[in-house]
Amino acid sequence: MKYKNPSLSVQERVNDLLPRMTLEEKIAQCIQIYIPPDHPGEIVDRIQAVGLGSRILGAVSLAGNVSQRTAGIEDLNEIQRIAMNEFRLGIPVIHGLDVIHGLRVIFPIPLGLAATFDPDAIQKTYNIAAEECFRLGIHWSFAPMLDIAHDPRWGRIVEGFGEDPYLGAKMAVAAIKGFQGELDENGYQSQDHILACAKHYIGYGSAEGGRDYNTAEITDHTLRNIYLPPFRAAVQAGVGSVMSAFEDLNGEPASGSRYLLTDLLKEELGFNGFVISDWASVAELIHHRVAANEREAAQIAFDAGVDMEMVTECYAHHLADLVMEGIISMERLDDAVRRILTQKFQLGLFDHPYADVQKSLEIRDLSAYHIAAREVTARSMVLLKNNGILPLPGDVRRIALIGPFVNQRRALLGTWVNDVLADEPQTLEEALRASCPDVEILTAPNGLMDEMIMIAAEADIVLLALGESNARNGEYNSIASLNLPAGQEELAQAVAGMGKPLAVLVFAGRPVTLTRILPHADALLYAWHPGSMGAAAAVDILLGKVNPAGKLPVTFPRGEGQIPVHYNHKSTGRDHPRYLDMPVEPLFPFGFGLSYTRFEITDLVVEPVEIPAGASVNVSVTVTNTGECKGEEVVQCYLQDCVSRRTRPERELKGFQRIALQPGESRRVEFTLGPDEMSYYGAGGSWVLEPGAFKVWIGNDCKASLEGSFLLK
Ligand code: BGC
Repeated sequence: MKYKNPSLSVQERVNDLLPRMTLEEKIAQCIQIYIPPDHPGEIVDRIQAVGLGSRILGAVSLAGNVSQRTAGIEDLNEIQRIAMNEFRLGIPVIHGLDVIHGLRVIFPIPLGLAATFDPDAIQKTYNIAAEECFRLGIHWSFAPMLDIAHDPRWGRIVEGFGEDPYLGAKMAVAAIKGFQGELDENGYQSQDHILACAKHYIGYGSAEGGRDYNTAEITDHTLRNIYLPPFRAAVQAGVGSVMSAFEDLNGEPASGSRYLLTDLLKEELGFNGFVISDWASVAELIHHRVAANEREAAQIAFDAGVDMEMVTECYAHHLADLVMEGIISMERLDDAVRRILTQKFQLGLFDHPYADVQKSLEIRDLSAYHIAAREVTARSMVLLKNNGILPLPGDVRRIALIGPFVNQRRALLGTWVNDVLADEPQTLEEALRASCPDVEILTAPNGLMDEMIMIAAEADIVLLALGESNARNGEYNSIASLNLPAGQEELAQAVAGMGKPLAVLVFAGRPVTLTRILPHADALLYAWHPGSMGAAAAVDILLGKVNPAGKLPVTFPRGEGQIPVHYNHKSTGRDHPRYLDMPVEPLFPFGFGLSYTRFEITDLVVEPVEIPAGASVNVSVTVTNTGECKGEEVVQCYLQDCVSRRTRPERELKGFQRIALQPGESRRVEFTLGPDEMSYYGAGGSWVLEPGAFKVWIGNDCKASLEGSFLLK
């Protein structure tokens, strides 16, 4: 049987296997089931009844914030043994799990990872996650999430890479490469890699009112220019699977839209992996009231292009009849199965179906991963204010360490983490004591606010750790007010009243409003939900062992009234639209973040200043570290198409580089802007490059003022 021969190419093996399969065997590949790990018997019955394409691990939908035991390596191998040996063709099962920002070693939430503006670091992060998964028998992660979001009330903003399509696309590619690695000449992934899943396709991040699962209305122009680029980049990077979203978009549920899934994704973008529904999103076509029953839901979703159904059983119960009655063509079924089998072969599942118990033990020692996590976590933190009190001076003798986040563990990990890890992270207090054994650290013995204020009065400097719980972020966890939870603003104000230098740390899964905290703080470090090594990384920054260089991947509004909020708004017919009771400018712009040193960006040169269509320009600047310590700067390049046939953003990020400079050191930093950067989806959704003038700015946030221009002839 040729399909069993690993020396043949993936395509040859799929071509050999597909015609051998019965209708039932084909349909089994299109089914992903969920069985709680404590019911192993049930899954065996299930496989024996319908066969099995895939199994989702984890506990329940909304798995982001619950205690769960995922299946162990022996259970997974046993399922695989049944699939391989007790079924005629021996087709392996693909096991999927939401590994969103790490498995055992938890990295910052994806929004924090985006703040690194460092695709290499992101690739390494997802590579570590892949290695951990692979060794434990998990073949597929439902990540990265590529939803652009302009509304921080939406709880799932935590899971994405922010508001910008260009940054989102770079991060998407890095995460996918980290998970999937490269294919060899026969189309196989190397060991220690897994399958990635670009989700939630598409527009899920623009849920009305920021309420999860809600309706979205996005014009085709905005859909293609703002929401599509990360998915387009993911497809170009070879992502093996895409998850269809829950929401109703422009009058069609995304999981039942032929336009989105087949015309745009598979045909226009050329996606050749497979589409999995979101959890129950096929059956939810009934709740959207576009299908009357499960049979119609199966028909609509399968026809639209959903190749595998997650958890619900519309396909299991109805696909066979739909195919036999000619309502769904065998050609469409073959296409779905071909896509799924291709990924299974590519992953090497037919050749190495079992997780290696010995190898899984090798990763018990996670110290190398912890070192990597500490580094990337420090890279993700954003210094939003500093009157010079950070880094903490070497002669500080008494630090008051107060606030609701001093002794948190679980909350530091953020959402989408298996709660069994809850006790593992160091607390901020433990990390600070470990790094400053000679400093007196005062804490509130009973965690009472009045104690905190009294302690603040006795210290040389106050570290106030604020934040929101992991349970306030993630799926179905939207909020209406972006303020920190009750009492924290008052605490900041009262502590500041004691007159001591005050550094505030904020641990959060979204931009919270800092408007009433900022005036009281001498310094403010935004630490996100930073993961397993979060406390240690924050202390590295407080002590100046690491110079912060993270930048905001989302705009921080002054208040909810500014939502939807994003830097890349369009030009309007009149002056910039305003509010009468609040400035239009946000509190912190996209791309913003301070350092312990200073950088100057000068001498912008554009070369050449006139180009023919299809050519590129180089834009360069000199970046100088004019401060006293070494540091890193994220140099950002923004572009404006001065006159275009369709309205375009005032400026758009089109390049960034995170560079390290010693004090006094200068470097020329160059960006190449080519047709890809200058083009956009124009009339009729076609990709156009229009002649005319372009403006370019380089700086260290989206307000960059150093300007140049060029002409595209
Ligand atoms: C979420 C997805 C997730 C899936 C599987 C759904 O509720 O929307 O992001 O991958 O569950 O857990």
